[in-house]
Amino acid sequence: PSERVQKGAFGACLMAEPALVAQCVSRIRREVGIPVTVKHRTGVDKIEDYAFLRNFVATVAAAGCETFIVHARNAILKGLSPKENREVPPLKYAYVYRLKQDFPRLEIVINGGITSQQQIEEHLAHVDGVMLGRAAYQHPWLLADAGKTRADVVRRMAGYAKTVASLRQVTRHMLGLYHGHPRARLWRRMLSDCAALKRNDPDLLLEALEAVEALETRDTPHFHAETEV
Ligand SMILES: Cc1cc2nc3c(=O)[nH]c(=O)nc-3n(C[C@H](O)[C@H](O)[C@H](O)COP(=O)(O)O)c2cc1C
Repeated sequence: PSERVQKGAFGACLMAEPALVAQCVSRIRREVGIPVTVKHRTGVDKIEDYAFLRNFVATVAAAGCETFIVHARNAILKGLSPKENREVPPLKYAYVYRLKQDFPRLEIVINGGITSQQQIEEHLAHVDGVMLGRAAYQHPWLLADAGKTRADVVRRMAGYAKTVASLRQVTRHMLGLYHGHPRARLWRRMLSDCAALKRNDPDLLLEALEAVEALETRDTPHFHAETEV
């Protein structure tokens, strides 16, 4: 956790205080009309026993939380940066599966290191849901519905961009749309071109689309041979 989070005693360190989290949940539930969910880890620091995790969930569930999103690794409270805390502690998917077995009525969502449709399917055999963090951002096409094309998305986003003051605020979140595609680099380059972004014209998206698609058609025979990503 970041220093700010540690100082304020919010974030992963709260896992060590399940009664306090339960109190927060019941108070929040009194104030809002929507379901209150809790996202947490498998444990903190060197606590490796499943009983710690089970007790946390049982205590918080008793306060009325019915959905738990579990980042399937421990949080190391000191010594690891937030980024390292998303990569270094080992993944413990089996702990999350076990939670679902022990609390079949709760909605258990698994998170952490999941990067493909196949992995999603495998997890769904054990839990109710899968949350993707970085992969959804870096490679959003991973989640595309069958039959949809990237061009559909770009055209719709170009329409949306017309309603937003800053084009950059739209394009910066679309840089990964062509991730893994032979023309990924061209797409990123066109969408991060400072001069073009300054003009703030949403047609930039359509121009980039045209460039990528035109090359795609021209290069079709070599499409799979290219490695540019
Ligand atoms: C830039 C960034 C910011 C994040 N901020 C939060 C946050 O505020 N609260 C939180 O619970 N998790 C946060 N996370 C962690 C993710 O929600 C997720 O648990 C983690 O990235 C592991 O999932 P993944 O392997 O699918 O990315 C953040 C992750 C990233 C990359």
